[in-house]
Amino acid sequence: MTASPPLVDAFDLVIFGGTGDLALRKLLPALFHRFLDGQIPAGSRVIGIAREGLDDDGYRANLRKVLLETGGAKDKVDAFLGQVGYRSLDARKDEGWDAFAALIGEQPEHVRVFYLSTSPELFVDICNRLGEYGLNRGKSRVVLEKPIGRDLASANQINDAVGRFFDESQTYRIDHYLGKETVQNLLALRFGNALFEPLWNAGHIDHVQITVAETLGVGTRGTYYDRAGALRDMVQNHILQLLCMVAMEPPSSLSPDAVRDEKLKVLRSLKPIDEANAAQYTVRGQYRAGAAEGQSVPGYLEDLGNGSKSHTETFVALKTEIENWRWAGVPFYLRTGKRLPERVSEIVVVFKSVPHSIFDASAGPLTQNRLVLRLQPDEGVKLWLTIKHPGPGGLRLRHVPLDMSFAEAFGVSQPDAYERLLLDVVRGNPTLFMRRDEVEAAWHWAGPILDAWGSSGEAPRPYTAGTWGPSAAVALIERDGRTWNEDSE
Ligand code: BG6
Repeated sequence: MTASPPLVDAFDLVIFGGTGDLALRKLLPALFHRFLDGQIPAGSRVIGIAREGLDDDGYRANLRKVLLETGGAKDKVDAFLGQVGYRSLDARKDEGWDAFAALIGEQPEHVRVFYLSTSPELFVDICNRLGEYGLNRGKSRVVLEKPIGRDLASANQINDAVGRFFDESQTYRIDHYLGKETVQNLLALRFGNALFEPLWNAGHIDHVQITVAETLGVGTRGTYYDRAGALRDMVQNHILQLLCMVAMEPPSSLSPDAVRDEKLKVLRSLKPIDEANAAQYTVRGQYRAGAAEGQSVPGYLEDLGNGSKSHTETFVALKTEIENWRWAGVPFYLRTGKRLPERVSEIVVVFKSVPHSIFDASAGPLTQNRLVLRLQPDEGVKLWLTIKHPGPGGLRLRHVPLDMSFAEAFGVSQPDAYERLLLDVVRGNPTLFMRRDEVEAAWHWAGPILDAWGSSGEAPRPYTAGTWGPSAAVALIERDGRTWNEDSE
């Protein structure tokens, strides 16, 4: 592979939470891949920060293991590690901050990215420190990992505190779903083809489904997850962002604010769900022991241990609408969960039935057209059409996909979302990041759902690991005469 010349200037990327799962599993491997592609300019530094008392060598050894395990070649891994360092710091203690500030000060001309991949409770302390030591100067940017807060009030508190030291143009609220290739492809598909726009409205679309299903349980992230739950972890951010990309009006350009203004309007038009209708429009579940990928697996409460009686949901299905002229009356069914039978993320746009059938019953049933955008695992786009079954023997109808798998069509595997987003931060391009008002609008909608669940006092419905969630999630869509997409051929 020939590396291309770097598209960004030399930078320092500091990862707070540098020993955490996200840093080791996603951020650092993403940077390694960019390094392989020649996109990490010489002299750039990646610095992990955490409380653990490690030194540079100890940190590099841990990272080396991860990168080798995921197939990195030894010489390349070692070359990359030459640009990686570590500092042990506690945002709540003074120790070490002077030395860290001196280290950063060695390269005043570098773009500085401070990536906050810690629990959100620490964001404010870290920003206070960065401000106190004057590290937010020059070309510096701060990246906030989701979830930002746990409700509107705490999100505002964090945004206000960060805003005291970094202005909005320096603040990158990351939602890695926006960096996924298929999500960006949605922009190309919707706004690069004249074909879809005339049909993209309540007149022609019956409903939209968004599913993000995972086979994994909460693993070692139980402490974080139990305070979050599926609505905060996936719906308030990733799924709403996908919904915005499907539903927004055409922006006037791809400039960051043009896109974000349109997404904001969608978030502000979401039909409210609260105590009055939460039972009707939402289903939440929690997995019990079952099977995943042929192995028996424990339930959520066993995963948490200590005899936990948690009511945190690991599954959500809900029905919402967008109350504007384009979408009035079109249901958006959203669904996500842990320990489901397959890892699949997809957006399904189901078109209306033909107004009148000219075919005999013997031709077989007419099926609605569906546009399926598959985000993972096999990224691609399928448009399901009705055709005549080939050959003699009368006119029989068949439903077949026009199928474009990105891997097959382009022969390349898709880069991880973080690869793109991390370099967008360095480049100073916030188009695929959430603006403060978007986060607020998303909480404004999600908060009353959480309140309604809290005040109902009901436990989430149990579902067996390895199934598609509680049966009530099937009933949620079937009582409207529709079914969740099953992409059978
Ligand atoms: C994260 C959530 O934001 O997204 C995790 O915190 C979830 O719970 C993950 O597993 C899913 O991301 P992906 O890219 O693997 O679909």
